[in-house]
This record gives sequence, C-alpha cells and structure tokens, in this order.
Amino acid sequence: MVGSTSFVKALPLLAVSAFAGVNYPTIPSDLTTPFQQRLAVYGLNAVSVGWNTYEQLNQSCVLYGTSADGLSSRSCSTTSSTYATSRTWSNAVVLTGLTPATTYYYKIVSGNSSVEHFLSPRAPGDKTAFSMDVVIDLGVYGKDGFTTSSKKKDTIPVVEPELNHTTIGALARTVDDYEIVIHPGDFAYADDWYLKFSNILQGKEAYQAILEQFYDQLAPIAGRKLYMASPGNHEADCSEIPYLNELCPEGQKNFTDFMHRFEKTMPSPFASSSSNTTAQALAAKARSYANPPFWYSFEYGMAHIVMINTETDFPDAPDGTDGSANLDSGPFGKPNQQTDFLKADLASVDRTITPWVIVAGHRPWYSTGSGNGCDSCQAAFEDIFYQYGVDLGVFGHVHNSQRFAPVYNGTADANGMKDPKAPMYIVAGGPGNIEGLSSVGTKPDYTEFAYADDYSYAKISFVDEQNLQVDFYQSSTGDLLDSSTLYKSHATQFVQQ
Ligand SMILES: *[C@@H]1O[C@H](CO)[C@@H](O)[C@H](O)[C@H]1NC(C)=O
Ligand SMILES: *[C@@H]1O[C@H](CO)[C@@H](O)[C@H](O)[C@H]1NC(C)=O
Ligand SMILES: *[C@@H]1O[C@H](CO)[C@@H](O)[C@H](O)[C@H]1NC(C)=O
Ligand SMILES: *[C@@H]1O[C@H](CO)[C@@H](O)[C@H](O)[C@H]1NC(C)=O
Ligand SMILES: *[C@@H]1O[C@H](CO)[C@@H](O)[C@H](O)[C@H]1NC(C)=O
Ligand SMILES: *[C@@H]1O[C@H](CO)[C@@H](O)[C@H](O)[C@H]1NC(C)=O
Repeated sequence: MVGSTSFVKALPLLAVSAFAGVNYPTIPSDLTTPFQQRLAVYGLNAVSVGWNTYEQLNQSCVLYGTSADGLSSRSCSTTSSTYATSRTWSNAVVLTGLTPATTYYYKIVSGNSSVEHFLSPRAPGDKTAFSMDVVIDLGVYGKDGFTTSSKKKDTIPVVEPELNHTTIGALARTVDDYEIVIHPGDFAYADDWYLKFSNILQGKEAYQAILEQFYDQLAPIAGRKLYMASPGNHEADCSEIPYLNELCPEGQKNFTDFMHRFEKTMPSPFASSSSNTTAQALAAKARSYANPPFWYSFEYGMAHIVMINTETDFPDAPDGTDGSANLDSGPFGKPNQQTDFLKADLASVDRTITPWVIVAGHRPWYSTGSGNGCDSCQAAFEDIFYQYGVDLGVFGHVHNSQRFAPVYNGTADANGMKDPKAPMYIVAGGPGNIEGLSSVGTKPDYTEFAYADDYSYAKISFVDEQNLQVDFYQSSTGDLLDSSTLYKSHATQFVQQ
C-alpha cells in the first residue's frame, strides 16, 4: 500500500529547511564484519547463508558443524555483488550435505563474527508437526519507521526505547515456537524515505540507510531461522510518487536490492521424491521454469510451499511495464513462464509425501475493504490453485489480518473447513510498517476474521496429514486473536479437479 498523496504533494515546499543527516549504521573498522544475515532452505539437505559486508569479498566462506566447537565443514563462494547506490555487498554461500532436522552451528568467516545456529530443514515426507510463521508488509523500526519495546532473550534486537516495533520482538520472544518463516513481499519500506522531511534531498542515502537498518534488525531472526522471501510492490516503488521520479535512486527501481539480496539464496524447486515418473518429469519442468527469488517452491516436512510473484510476469500484472501501479518493472521471465511453472509445480506434488500445499504471494484477490483485491492476480492464478487443490493461499499487501472460508470464484465452498475443494485464504499484512494499519472496511460474506486494531502476524501449524491450524497473534501482547483448523482428507495422491 502507499502513503497519502496529499501529504506527499506538500513535501517539496516544506522539506528544504529540514535537511539533516540520514541514519546510516556505523561502518565497522573490520570491513569483513558480517551484517544482515539471512538463512534459507536451498534444496534437499541444503541451506543458504546470505550476509552483507561493507567491502567486496574475494571469497566468502562459512564454517559449520553439529557442535559449536566442531565446525568441521566449510563452504565458500566468490559471490559478492552490489549495485550503484549501495554501500554494501551481498554475499552468499550454500551449506550442503546437512542431516535433516538437526541443529547446526555456523560461523561466517570474518575477523569479527560469532558462532550462530539453526535447525536444518525437515526432509520432504517427514510427518513431524511443525509451525511456520508468516510476516508480510514488515517495515523498519526506529527513527525512520515505527517500533516497540520488548526486551528479552539474546535474540531480541536492540530497540530504541522511545520507539515501538512489536512483530520482530514477537518473533524473537517466541523463537522456539516455529521452525521457518515466510515473508512474501514488502520488506523495510525504504522507498517511504520521502515521508520524513529531512530525507527529501538525500533519497539515495536515506533509501540505503533504511535498508541497512531494517536488515540489521531482522538478522537475529533471519540468521537463526530459515527465512523465505518473495517480492512485493515496495521492492520496486519509484514511479508511484510522481514528484519524486527524478529523485528516485537507481537501486530502488525494478527490484534491484531484492535481487542482489536474495537471488543467490532462494531455492529452485526440489527434484521430486515421488516414485511416479510423471511427477518426476513435472518437477523437473517446474525447476526449469522457476525463477528464484521471484517464483519458486520448496519442501519442508509435510509441506510443499510455492512462492509466487504477484507484481510482474502475468497479464496486466500491477507492477509490470504497463501495470496499474506505474512501477514499470520486470518482466523477469518469458511470457507465461510463471504460470507454466506454477502448473507444472503443483501437478508434480505427491500428497503421500507432502500432503499440504501452500501458495504464498504478495497481493491478495480476496480481501476486506473496497478495491483491495488484485483482479489480474485472480485471473492469472485462482483457477490454477483450484485445479491442483491448493490447501491454503497466503497473501498480504493490505495492512491487517484476515481469514476467509475456503472459496472459489467468490463463492464459499459448501464443505467449509471439512474437506473443501476450494483453497482457504488468509491475509497476513499486519506486522507493521511506517504506513500503519489499514482499516478492515467492508467484509465479503465468506470473511471469518478481520483485525486491524494493533500489529499482528500469522502462524501456520502443520499438525498432521489431515489438520492444518492457522493462528493470528497480536504482536505486542502475544494474545491469540483467531484460531482455525482446516481438515483435508488428502485421499488423492495427485490432485486434479
Ligand atoms: C564487530 O562487529 C560489530 C557488530 O557485530 C560491530 O559493532 C563492531 O564495530 C565490529 N568491530 C570491528 C572491529 O569492526
Ligand atoms: C582481493 O583481491 C585483490 C587482488 O585480486 C586484493 O588486492 C585485495 O586485497 C583482496 N581483498 C581481500 C579482502 O582479500
Ligand atoms: C508502544 O506499544 C505499547 C503497547 O502496544 C503502547 O502502550 C505504547 O503506547 C506504545 N508506545 C509508543 C511510543 O508508540
Ligand atoms: C503419476 O502421476 C500422475 C500425475 O502427475 C497421475 O496422473 C498418474 O496416475 C500417476 N501414476 C501412477 C501409477 O500413480
Ligand atoms: C528489470 O530487470 C530485469 C532483469 O534484469 C530486466 O530483464 C527488465 O528489462 C528490467 N525492467 C525494466 C523496466 O527495466
Ligand atoms: C464465476 O462467477 C461469475 C459470477 O460471479 C460467473 O459469471 C462465472 O461463470 C463464474 N466462473 C466459474 C468458472 O465458475
């Protein structure tokens, strides 16, 4: 979502006298110091480690092992990339040969780094219960954003006392309650630098400063948990603010920072674990059509999770070169590449191995409030979801929490939560950012829950092969706001309906 246009129009007149330095983090004297750490599922028995440094690294390496004083394995790469307006370089290394569902210790090789740890991914087909947190539309906190004051545990980021960020604090406070996180779009809100008068003449610096702050704030979570990213409109915002076109820094356009940060750390679809040769061939096809970090899939225990791009790369995509959002971005693939990927990927899923299929993206087509649904997204994706029996669609973009009964083409499934054919949908856009919350507005009749009183986020629990629990929590208090359970018999091995 975007800020108020009338407010923006007043800026050029008011801004000049308010010039002040942007809040850049301090550059360390040891330039090999890792910042902005981020982990991700990278494949079967593989995890990527991404981080930024204030110099280019000739070689990036990570030591790892199953005890803190036995980091016997080492992975390296020569990946260290940047773009014109950035102060930092993105580095990425893939750790392979991991034993599934095991605690690993790792140390990014640097003169100034410490040993951290993570749980390696569960193997596809592991039927152990686990939870996955969902945050979308999560912005920086501090002087360039908004915030909260939770103080607990080693993982809690340092929060300036006058400020109030709740959701990163909640993820830290509950760090043992979930195994992975998905974040389908809208990171940092660095493109909202213009909302602070003092930034108006230094957009390039302000944009970078907010990104550096945000990813430092996220590192205690993303450096501990497998943290899966896909794009939202705020990864491409520039032309949305007509007055600022000329001022828009190069790195802000066309998903530039997002690509540098995540393209080497997000996975390609896994090879199929199914013994069915058709499924194996479809998974191979999906792998060839995937385009991480824009669209891809991964498997984790009972779940097959697909991340899609609701911004570009389908007809009338809102952020495309002729899109309604005027963001003039993409395309990142060939025509139909994303939808061909999605069809092949979903058709390949063997429900005896991964009974649960979740698809996550940024813009919803089911939402409360008027004008919040993305019609072109619905036209491109909804029938595919239905045809292949997607269990749950996860979206954000609208800054609040919403849950809908299973629904297809605007009609609630007659079976409700007991073995519906249609997907259930949620919006988890309430974690908090400088633009604040969106009011709930009008509710479609299949609405089950809608909340916009405080910042909130979602937790999806894979209870067993038939039961999926979806919970929403108030970030500041940890109070459970809504809980529901979707039952699916998952009796069909390859769903096509
Ligand atoms: C070491 O890293 C910390 C952040 O983790 C940083 O604050 C400090 O300045 C670094 N020290 C040196 C010598 O660069
Ligand atoms: C990287 O390699 C160049 C020469 O290829 C060298 O001058 C530079 O010092 C190296 N940097 C680091 C951090 O090792
Ligand atoms: C911070 O959050 C708490 C709890 O939600 C609230 O009571 C307090 O007013 C907030 N403080 C600021 C400065 O927004
Ligand atoms: C293999 O999977 C395809 C769908 O991908 C399905 O149509 C076919 O019936 C399966 N074959 C067997 C032997 O299960
Ligand atoms: C955006 O980036 C992609 C990938 O680099 C490129 O193919 C595309 O042309 C760019 N789009 C615009 C509008 O610059
Ligand atoms: C979807 O619903 C519209 C009316 O809301 C109807 O005209 C159309 O035929 C429906 N499409 C399908 C595929 O059911």
